[in-house]
Amino acid sequence: MTLDAVLSRVDTDFDASVARLMRLLEIPSISTDPAYAADCDAAAAWLAEDLTGIGLTASVRPTTGRAMVVGQGGDGGPHLLFYGHYDVQPADPLALWDSPPFEPRIEDGPRGKVLRGRGAADDKGQLMTFVEACRAWTAVHGALPCRLTVFFEGEEESGSPSLVPFLKDNADELSADVALICDTDMFDDTPAIVTQLRGLLGEEIIVTAANRDLHSGHYGGMAANPARVLAGILAGLHDDRGRITVPGFYDGVPPLDPMLRAQWDELGFVPGEFLGEVGLSQPAGEEGKSPLEMVWSEPTCEINGMISGYTGEGFKTVLPAQASAKLSFRLVGTQDPLAIRESFRAMVRDQIPPDCSVEFRDHGASPASHMRTDAPAFETARQALSREWEREAAFIGAGGSIPVAGYFQTHLGMDSLLIGFGRSDDAIHSPNEKYDLASFHKGIRSWVRILAALSA
Ligand code: BES
Ligand code: ZN
Repeated sequence: MTLDAVLSRVDTDFDASVARLMRLLEIPSISTDPAYAADCDAAAAWLAEDLTGIGLTASVRPTTGRAMVVGQGGDGGPHLLFYGHYDVQPADPLALWDSPPFEPRIEDGPRGKVLRGRGAADDKGQLMTFVEACRAWTAVHGALPCRLTVFFEGEEESGSPSLVPFLKDNADELSADVALICDTDMFDDTPAIVTQLRGLLGEEIIVTAANRDLHSGHYGGMAANPARVLAGILAGLHDDRGRITVPGFYDGVPPLDPMLRAQWDELGFVPGEFLGEVGLSQPAGEEGKSPLEMVWSEPTCEINGMISGYTGEGFKTVLPAQASAKLSFRLVGTQDPLAIRESFRAMVRDQIPPDCSVEFRDHGASPASHMRTDAPAFETARQALSREWEREAAFIGAGGSIPVAGYFQTHLGMDSLLIGFGRSDDAIHSPNEKYDLASFHKGIRSWVRILAALSA
């Protein structure tokens, strides 16, 4: 049978697939740091060349930021668009890595062999599952099973500044029947299709008081302390029940659909295990919400960083002149990121006392996205995925954000099948990131089955 021939090809070529992924992982394509711009270009060029090697017409498309890569191939059948991102998070803190982040290595992991290195799971290993599936298909059949556009971004980890203009300028080329995105996780051992992603609003607050740091004995008690002012503001962002206090914040937060609640309940999520992996034990979200609701369907306000005063070794009696904090809000439903930004800033300004001033920095804003799972492609893909993993694939939510999924809906009128093979212990964005070789291997085989099923 033809599907079996392609799956066998994936198996026999697997060592070579790993070798190719390792070459891509050696390129430090960190998008947020301009010092790595040339490396981002190198990763884009590597991918365009690899796509060309499997018969696609591919090119690197410069933008005002990091380049995009677009490849076209196949014809007939449905038109699929595959999206992945080749940029990675910075490797810091470097000292916490057990081996250099851009010298990928195969190691023993908790469930078998893993490939360790920055970007192994997020998202180079995941995007290569799809490329390898296409390679195997083409090797066996001489052509792809349907019309395909491959689209790789190089700024996903830094707020995608060039993405929307690029989608608008290339709408004809990029619009397809359905998008495929490989940038999410499984649910433990259960393969999964993510049907909703949270949005993200990034804000930085900088509170300034005196024109220099002051002696805390000479001035303390009389002079305004911006660290104290900021701490008070941050502490007031949640009430006693864990509800966020920004006026209008909950506008557009829908109640959890009872059908979804039932599906999620069936997953048998054990919060103690999930938290136990990272040394915690108690869900700390809003009172009355279930743990999965807290990460999948409820919005959040989290402090990501705080800077003020003396943080070096020892002790210094000082009143800082400035205090700042970086915050992120995860958004759900139809919460409007720009309205929330305005409301948040107004609420902060109202709490700034005399002699203090406040400045804000914008770190991106994207709404949540929800897929219409009644489109036939969702059930087709779910069945193909279940066959590969010999386990019923689940529809799940995700707490993270992939802004492109929402932009595909708004600007190209297309829903996304969010299918990924990451695991919760992959340590994406953290030191010692890894991707299970089983995720990579069965991920490739999954895409072969999904491509066959969607093209049939
Ligand atoms: N791949 C992740 C998001 C993700 C991981 C979603 C696992 C679902 C399951 C993605 O690369 C990411 O980290 N996104 C950022 C958003 C971006 C705008 C910085 C995030 O969620 O913080
Ligand atoms: Zn990612």
